[in-house]
Amino acid sequence: MTIAITQATGPEHTRIYAYGAARGENAVPNDDLVGPIDSSDEWIRQRTGIVTRTRADADTNAIDLASAAAAEAIERSGIAPELIDAVIVATISNPKQTPSVSAIVADRVGANPAAAYDVNAACAGFAYGIAQADALIRAGAAHYAVVVGAEKLSDVVDPTDRSISFLLGDGAGAAVVGPSEYAGIGPTVWGSDGSKADAVGMNHTLVEFRDGLAPWPTLRQEGPTVFRWAVWEMVKVARQALEAAGIEASDLAAFVPHQANMRIIDEFAKQLKLPDTVVIGRDIETTGNTSAASIPLATHRLLEEHPELSGGLALQIGFGAGLVFGAQVVVLP
Ligand SMILES: CC(C)(COP(=O)(O)OP(=O)(O)OC[C@H]1O[C@@H](n2cnc3c(N)ncnc32)[C@H](O)[C@@H]1OP(=O)(O)O)[C@@H](O)C(=O)NCCC(=O)NCCS
Repeated sequence: MTIAITQATGPEHTRIYAYGAARGENAVPNDDLVGPIDSSDEWIRQRTGIVTRTRADADTNAIDLASAAAAEAIERSGIAPELIDAVIVATISNPKQTPSVSAIVADRVGANPAAAYDVNAACAGFAYGIAQADALIRAGAAHYAVVVGAEKLSDVVDPTDRSISFLLGDGAGAAVVGPSEYAGIGPTVWGSDGSKADAVGMNHTLVEFRDGLAPWPTLRQEGPTVFRWAVWEMVKVARQALEAAGIEASDLAAFVPHQANMRIIDEFAKQLKLPDTVVIGRDIETTGNTSAASIPLATHRLLEEHPELSGGLALQIGFGAGLVFGAQVVVLP
């Protein structure tokens, strides 16, 4: 007969305790980028809503940005760093393929020896990380988790690329997740479509670069393809996340979509029929698209500018390279 072993279980509910943020040190205006792509400040503003994007100093990397954001989230949460036993960093900007960003961040913020791992889900990474932190805690695999989205995309931009480079910024956003008396993180609607892997991602491999067969790999996208997919398919995912949480769009206090393009954000708001009372994250205007960092950065800013949102419901949805997507409703701390 099999000897019975103990299986872990955790608390019934989880919630987000606090957010933290770190942006690249420099505001880079459109005019600094338009020359090599034969574009204009006006075109970029009209087609994307971006006025400036934040980019980090040469000697600041994704680990630095992630550590700063995580440290602020932990400080604001009131949870002692040594009680954090899971650190999840969503990123496509690890300076090295290994070791992970997360293990170094865990050590730097005082959470050593927390379980630590990176998630590669591009612009859906933060929503994936929240899904995992919620599940790990409710399963008893962790007590308190820090979820970070961190990117230094300026290292993988080609100044002559018209498809994506001018959209991208650097930054990190973080959230502390822990046990709760009430349901603070709704069911996650997530998935992927690898048949569209070529729609957005790196244009070359590191091996091709090493062998002199290609220049330094940088990001590229089929803009209109991704735009249409985001507008048509992601609105359905957003609706599913509302339905899974058992709420209507009119119950939301805030909507925080991935900051990919202001026109996509406006189209979401229209199709979801968001009432004017719903505050919408529009951090893209001054931060640009920071992939995994975009949702927590936009949420952090909303809470700074509208402290009355605290305790309200926010719908967040991330989507990007993979293709991958993830959405859930959360209660704002
Ligand atoms: C990249 C993006 C801003 C391009 O905008 P768009 O409106 O789709 O632009 P198009 O590619 O259809 O091009 C329209 C025109 O602008 C021109 N154009 C394209 N990129 C340009 C640029 N960077 N600067 C100036 N002109 C540009 C095109 O040549 C085209 O000119 P034409 O009408 O004379 O042929 C937009 O497609 C986008 O944001 N896509 C989705 C991004 C996203 O969600 N990514 C998620 C993963 S992070």
